[in-house]
Amino acid sequence: METSPGPSRRLLRIAPALCLLLLIAGCAENYPQTTLLPRGDFGRMVDSLFRTTVFWAAIVFVLVEGALLFAIFKFRGRPDDPEPRQVHGHTGLEVVWTIIPAFILVMIAVPTIKTIFRTSDYASGDVITVEVIGHQWWWEFRYPDLGIVTANEFRVPVDRTINLRMTSADLIHSFWVPQFAGKRDVLPGRHNPLWFKAEVTGSFNGQCAEFCGVQHARMSFVLHVDSAAAFEAWVANERVGSPLVNSGRVVRDTTGPRDAAADSLERAGQAAFTAGGCLGCHAMVGTPLAGTTSLKGPNLSHVGSRTTIVAGMLQNTPDNLARWLSNPDSVKPGVLMILPRKLTSGEIATLVAYLRSHR
Ligand code: CUA
Repeated sequence: METSPGPSRRLLRIAPALCLLLLIAGCAENYPQTTLLPRGDFGRMVDSLFRTTVFWAAIVFVLVEGALLFAIFKFRGRPDDPEPRQVHGHTGLEVVWTIIPAFILVMIAVPTIKTIFRTSDYASGDVITVEVIGHQWWWEFRYPDLGIVTANEFRVPVDRTINLRMTSADLIHSFWVPQFAGKRDVLPGRHNPLWFKAEVTGSFNGQCAEFCGVQHARMSFVLHVDSAAAFEAWVANERVGSPLVNSGRVVRDTTGPRDAAADSLERAGQAAFTAGGCLGCHAMVGTPLAGTTSLKGPNLSHVGSRTTIVAGMLQNTPDNLARWLSNPDSVKPGVLMILPRKLTSGEIATLVAYLRSHR
């Protein structure tokens, strides 16, 4: 009579199905943080290096495992076998197993060194420079030539090389947009280069890739790749009110139809923002400290037009913003944003209206 299969037997039976599932999951086109679907020239170079290495590793695997299996079956011991012929010091074999690995290492080393040299410095030519500054636990993006400062989301035009000049305001972080460029550490007191040229438009996830404290995992950001026209429009909008553009002249966004009730709510929000001490950490269009210095908290100019808040953690909706303002530490434990006191729901409503009005 047949007994029921043991757990390891059962695992063996479903193993092929599991493998297939993993394979399908790995092929999903919209897997958000894959390095296997590069969308830029830098990512493509790293990906091609990876594929080259895997190709040679596969050859090594097949040759070594094949030789091993062949030897196991061909030369397996039988009772009363005499001692096999000894091949120690066989010159032919020694030469073969020195030359083959040396050849494989050269085939991997040449493209590796070429890629290291090509990716370790700034790109030249017609480039857009973006300064990247890592903070616990958010990202600052500055466009020195365009007079723009933003946080946790940045935009670039498609088919244009972007030079990133990266540093940190506190400790070591690592900048990583898996589909565009390799990880690169950002270090305090030092600038590291990285560049890429996006080949398609869309929004792509980025992530801090170096443990940097309790909220390291939630130090993410979004890279938006726009068409040239959409990027120009974004730049024009971001420059409204920027003291880096019009020497400190304060301009408040008043795009779109206005209604009196919304207007007074936003004005109350602006008053609360100024009186409540938010300005101590957050630069904001239309306030005295509109973004000339790198402050402790994210620059909030035009925050209403971002797709996410809290370093890529929450969708930018009125409800999420209200939830965040009511108790930041419960949303992101350990966050360095300290409210001077608990805000009332009325204050939160005005702040939400004010922040959302800056689009
Ligand atoms: Cu910053 Cu991890």
